[in-house]
Amino acid sequence: MTNLPSPLASSEVEMPIGSARLRDVSTALDTNGVRDQFPGLPPGWHYLDTAATAQKPQAVIDATVNAMGRDYATVHRGVYARSADMTLAYEAARRRIAAFIGAKEEQIAFVRGATEAINLVAYSHPKKGRVLLSMLEHHSNIVPWQLAGWQVDVCPLTADGCIDLDAAEKLLTPEHAMVAFAHVSNVLGSPLDVARAAELAHRVGAELLVDGCQAVPRLPVDVAALGCDYYVFSGHKLYGPTGIGVLWSDRLDTLPPWQGGGR
Ligand SMILES: Cc1ncc(COP(=O)(O)O)c(C=O)c1O
Repeated sequence: MTNLPSPLASSEVEMPIGSARLRDVSTALDTNGVRDQFPGLPPGWHYLDTAATAQKPQAVIDATVNAMGRDYATVHRGVYARSADMTLAYEAARRRIAAFIGAKEEQIAFVRGATEAINLVAYSHPKKGRVLLSMLEHHSNIVPWQLAGWQVDVCPLTADGCIDLDAAEKLLTPEHAMVAFAHVSNVLGSPLDVARAAELAHRVGAELLVDGCQAVPRLPVDVAALGCDYYVFSGHKLYGPTGIGVLWSDRLDTLPPWQGGGR
């Protein structure tokens, strides 16, 4: 991805949505230069499903093919040279992801996707109680909480499609152990004021999990500055391969093991 043209230029404009703003870079993007790097986007093809899953640039396809072929070996389980190289590459990816979202590398857990990250927190969190979700959450940020036995409350939206944080303030009680909101809605594109959501959650002793699936591909994300406790996102919406995702937290070590096994 290093040779992608810079997506931003001086003509970028801002679109106000609710209290936050998304940058519209459509007028400033060298779309042909970008398109050339995506074999899944032949000329004349217009792909409008990136929120569901992103097409892959050739650099990602090449890296994936090499990882599955020429360079393939076990990670963290072998002492031969190729395995050691694979382990170094895997850990380099963790450092790169950490730097990309303003995190420390030990705060990054690789999982199979955002769905698994949310399941991990929902099932293994030591204080299973009430969780406040919102009306715009993806099913991946609803069903895991229900199946794991949390009592779910739902926050309404404002007229312009944002999570209504004034309503959240009224709904939250000390019984809530968790608030789980999307950073950017996959349906409406509406962004969350994460700092305020974190402040409201923490005020009643709850933690804040942010579903960043739609935000990380679109916005600069600095988890250290956001103020949330957990941040999740998926690889396949970020131009990476499917089957990989990230759970960030500065308290991963407080979560007991969720699934057992060896390596
Ligand atoms: C907002 C949001 N959350 C969670 C998910 C699930 O992500 P994954 O496919 O990585 O499990 C999606 C994917 O559609 C999404 O858009």
